[in-house]
Amino acid sequence: MNNAGSTTANALARTKTHGQPLWLLAELTYKCPLQCPYCSNPLDFAGAGGELSTEEWISVFRQAREMGAAQLGFSGGEPLVRQDLEQLIAEARKLGYYTNLITSGIGLSGERIAAFRDAGLDHIQVSFQASDEEVNNMLAGSKKAFQQKLKIAREVKAQGYPMVLNFVTHKHNIDQIGRIIELCVELEADYVELATCQYYGWAYENREQLLPTKAQLERAERITNEYREKLKAEGNPIRLIFVTPDYYEERPKKCMNGWGEIFLTVTPDGTALPCHSARMLPIEFPNVKDQTIHDIWNESNGFNYFRGDEWMQEPCRSCDEKEQDHGGCRCQAYMMTGDMHAADPVCGKSPDHGKILAAREAAELDSSGRPISFRNERNSRQYAAGSR
Ligand code: FES
Repeated sequence: MNNAGSTTANALARTKTHGQPLWLLAELTYKCPLQCPYCSNPLDFAGAGGELSTEEWISVFRQAREMGAAQLGFSGGEPLVRQDLEQLIAEARKLGYYTNLITSGIGLSGERIAAFRDAGLDHIQVSFQASDEEVNNMLAGSKKAFQQKLKIAREVKAQGYPMVLNFVTHKHNIDQIGRIIELCVELEADYVELATCQYYGWAYENREQLLPTKAQLERAERITNEYREKLKAEGNPIRLIFVTPDYYEERPKKCMNGWGEIFLTVTPDGTALPCHSARMLPIEFPNVKDQTIHDIWNESNGFNYFRGDEWMQEPCRSCDEKEQDHGGCRCQAYMMTGDMHAADPVCGKSPDHGKILAAREAAELDSSGRPISFRNERNSRQYAAGSR
């Protein structure tokens, strides 16, 4: 297995052509009132350093905009926790960004939505855990989450924003896909992402309990297609986007549209990453407190590391599909094989593809005896008691 240190000099020495950081994701905080068992935040986020100040974030926005960034997503954790969010939105607007708030809705009020609108926020996406109040609250780890989300979703729409909802689906809620879609219709949603959970961070810890079976996925996709037809015939303009997990694919995804090609994530403590999960990799990533965004994007080892194809091993190196998928997801390769240079095991040509097949087989087993593990012990115990 290669290691980060041995190829650092090579990576730095390479001259590579790459795109601009068009998409900036500002992870404003790791703090969150919810406890979702599929959270993709790092497992050890409690140990992360202090959060960037308002001025530091504004400087990041300005520099990234000068580099060509056009879209700015505010996420977390729960970005609403930041009391300076209105100010950050206003500054981003002044700089000319298209801004998107990705929120659970917990802690949001009509007054604050109005303040965001006055500050120039373009788009709000509210995430749900389930269509059923009890399941939603249990997964969220909060008794009030569901009612609060419904209230906020309606308020977002009432204040003139398009209704953009995100439902993370998994083994425990995917069979209710019809009810989920009906709830979205009731809420007059314009755009709904029915996204099966991605197995990073805490979700990877719970993968056996969360990965749906192939039959569950096929049924959910069929029902979604039926609703699409029916709603279209009724003249409902709602758009339903169904996202399947790559665990049922034979070729990997070109993760983040290519490493260091268009995405730039900045974490609460200022670490700059080519994808939101990259922090887990044994690579030293730069920090916006120490380097300019220009240098981070163009010169840093972290961003140059997986650009191009010199880092590839077989079977990727000689593969005629390497331009299409870049060897797949580096974080997934590392999580599943311990080698971040390996082919993503999703690929049928990977020598580790058996690990994906084993995960599919495990998904077929009854996992009801193995409770979901939450970040907080109390939720784990409650869920175990509720699922018996
Ligand atoms: Fe990091 Fe795919 S999530 S490269």
